[in-house]
Amino acid sequence: MNVMESLGGYLKKTYDVMADMGLLLGSVGGDGRVNLMTIGWGLIGIVWFKPIFLVAVRKTRYTHKLMEETGVFTVNVPSEDMRRACEVCGTLSGRDVDKFEKTGLTWRPGDHVKAPVVDGCPIVYECRVVYKDDVELPRLTREIVESAYPTGNIHTLYYGEILKVHASP
Ligand SMILES: Cc1cc2nc3c(=O)[nH]c(=O)nc-3n(C[C@H](O)[C@H](O)[C@H](O)COP(=O)(O)O)c2cc1C
Repeated sequence: MNVMESLGGYLKKTYDVMADMGLLLGSVGGDGRVNLMTIGWGLIGIVWFKPIFLVAVRKTRYTHKLMEETGVFTVNVPSEDMRRACEVCGTLSGRDVDKFEKTGLTWRPGDHVKAPVVDGCPIVYECRVVYKDDVELPRLTREIVESAYPTGNIHTLYYGEILKVHASP
């Protein structure tokens, strides 16, 4: 089965975990340094005849710097025992600490991208950025500007083509 055909089967689990503890966004820099960051926002869908995972990364994140360098990422759906790791990856920055060392999580490179595939995750998406756009505040409804961007720290929206889904039964 190709990615497009199998995508629907992973949606519910992915959205449920995203709304609960978050997902782990894996990135890699030009020098090969890898990082993990927790994300609570994201979309999976079909655009340009391609399966797409959209993630929103604020410009201040270390992850943003790495994604700008290499244009690839992974989205790792954590297992229940990774709850504490999600808190760590959502509060500390890869600028200051090696989050793999800190959490004890282990990884291997993806089959199609060098970004990290976290061992033990029930679902992992490997993605290559095909389009990106910075949120333009004048185009956004005032209520969201005020709630999400009080200091103007905007997101870049990265549209990643899903090249592979790893799923354990
Ligand atoms: C549950 C949760 C969801 C989060 N979702 C996002 C998100 O979607 N986008 C984002 O830019 N930051 C999000 N964050 C914040 C980053 O995970 C956090 O700032 C992290 O320390 C950035 O790491 P980095 O500097 O190593 O990239 C979230 C944090 C938590 C705890």
